[in-house]
Amino acid sequence: MRIHDKPMKNKIPYKGILLAGGAGKRLYPMTRVFSKQLLPVYDKPMIYYPLATLMLFGISEVLIISTPEDAPNIEKLLGDGSNIGLKLSYKVQNHPNGIAEALVLGDDFIGNDNVCLILGDNIFYMGDQLNDFFKIIWKNEGAVICGYHVPDPERYGIVEFSDGEHVLSIEEKPKNPKSNFAVVGLYFYTPDVVKKAKALKPSSRKELEITDLNKEYLQENRIKVLRMCRGTAWMDAGTPDSLMDAAQFVQMIEKRQGLKISCIEEIALNRGFIDIVQFAKLVDNYEDGSDYKRYLSKIVGERKQNV
Ligand code: G1P
Repeated sequence: MRIHDKPMKNKIPYKGILLAGGAGKRLYPMTRVFSKQLLPVYDKPMIYYPLATLMLFGISEVLIISTPEDAPNIEKLLGDGSNIGLKLSYKVQNHPNGIAEALVLGDDFIGNDNVCLILGDNIFYMGDQLNDFFKIIWKNEGAVICGYHVPDPERYGIVEFSDGEHVLSIEEKPKNPKSNFAVVGLYFYTPDVVKKAKALKPSSRKELEITDLNKEYLQENRIKVLRMCRGTAWMDAGTPDSLMDAAQFVQMIEKRQGLKISCIEEIALNRGFIDIVQFAKLVDNYEDGSDYKRYLSKIVGERKQNV
């Protein structure tokens, strides 16, 4: 059994925030009338991928933040999440005021819980590195960020670190990057993050920067970094090329293995958010004719045989 397929023993003490905002300018005209996070990445809408990542961490309570135009469509797609054992709620971000604003908007939702923030165009394929994530996020004393080796560090937030988890510096889109490790769009915080996010001042691009927030934790020596291994994949599907790359990556792995990546219904079943009876009912309600339904129906058949 792969780690992804294991039911959670203990409930993870995190809520999730999925930020699916932004104008998707770099994908124009594809995003002219359509949300970036609803564009297809091979066989499913983009937003399934970050949602699946939260679910793999065992997170079932998620606030989805999107634009006034896109939030209703996302809600039409995912509803309240109860059919896959989730508790989804929605909030509107009126202007693209920066990633860190999600934590201000999430104030009441976060309350006294830890929170994992994920960006709606970030696609992860982590394999067994999920184990390392669990180790580090259970003992989070402030912030946990993740570093992924990239060839073009000028494009991202960049983290410099020493011996394992120790962060030395974080810079947003540096001209002279101190490392090749990009800070990916997946952040874990303790509940005091709301107060810190509220105290941030907008940057020169008039946004509340997630990097400024992380620097606050760095100053207090309360931030750790998890270095993602070579065998993992992190893609940000925000440009036509990266969207195509992500789709091709997913297609290649899925065809080769006969297993789907970020199939939220399958993860809900494997993680114990729903049982096989609920799963079978859900699959029954899907329209016939898609490869996606055939895949889910096959799982129903296999599991019933094993009961
Ligand atoms: C944002 C963050 C950056 C991070 C990146 C990951 O960049 O500001 O630190 O590395 O997401 O996708 P932006 O999408 O605003 O260029």
